[in-house]
Amino acid sequence: MSSIVSDAPADTRPLAVVTGASKGFGLEVARALAAGGWDVVTLSRSRSVELDQVPFLTQVQGDVASADLAGLVATVGDRPVDLLVNNAGVGGTGTNLASLSADELEHCFSVNVWGPARVSGALLPNLRLGAHPLVVNITSRLASLNRQASGEYRHLSSSYAYRITKAAQNMLTVCMAAELGASVRVWAVHPGRLRTAMAVADADGDPAEAAERLVTLVQADTETQLAYIALDEGPLPW
Ligand SMILES: NC(=O)c1ccc[n+]([C@@H]2O[C@H](COP(=O)([O-])OP(=O)(O)OC[C@H]3O[C@@H](n4cnc5c(N)ncnc54)[C@H](OP(=O)(O)O)[C@@H]3O)[C@@H](O)[C@H]2O)c1
Repeated sequence: MSSIVSDAPADTRPLAVVTGASKGFGLEVARALAAGGWDVVTLSRSRSVELDQVPFLTQVQGDVASADLAGLVATVGDRPVDLLVNNAGVGGTGTNLASLSADELEHCFSVNVWGPARVSGALLPNLRLGAHPLVVNITSRLASLNRQASGEYRHLSSSYAYRITKAAQNMLTVCMAAELGASVRVWAVHPGRLRTAMAVADADGDPAEAAERLVTLVQADTETQLAYIALDEGPLPW
């Protein structure tokens, strides 16, 4: 294992792209990366006033579910992207078959699955230029088919659309890892039960601490090709 970030001068800082960074976990990841020696480009629908103050960070406004990623692509230009954190995500409200709606499922699919697929595809040429490029798809423990089938999370009232689309996002991670092989590593990372706008009832994790854990992990491990891991727990069963 070797470290990606050193005390490099500003023009040689590695570049990270983080989606959904206007609040919650994504905001803390963007902030921790910029403080840890990275150049950061964020993509969110709304602009964060807090991130306006952060050096080495550029905000692009856009929707991961939209076809137009021109602003992001133009901002990154022809620079190598060393890290892409596909963090933007949405939850749902329908917790049983009767309350599952096509609109909700389509919206969650569009943001949670098509979003990371589209952003990864748009930045693939830049990722291929990186030294140890890594795509981190922010997933959930609730995406684990293994744990859901065993009934481990039966007591949680999480939505069908969220569970279905995060499980599909995990399959996206596996598909990308199979296609990209050694050229670009791909991880599915559960950030923990964090106190954010999307928090579940038993959430008690600090988003800033979780972000530090992610940055430490990313900087320490430049080898692992494919992983499904919880920042507060270690490897998860798919
Ligand atoms: N909180 C938890 O306990 C927990 C647990 C497991 C997994 N996660 C995952 O962690 C990630 C972050 O969640 P969070 O808890 O930080 O949620 P959050 O506070 O609701 O933040 C979600 C972020 O995603 C952005 N976003 C939503 N839709 C978007 C779109 N279409 N295009 C671009 N950005 C979009 C939001 O910004 P805008 O509204 O400005 O676009 C916001 O910055 C999600 O993928 C979530 O599934 C969270």
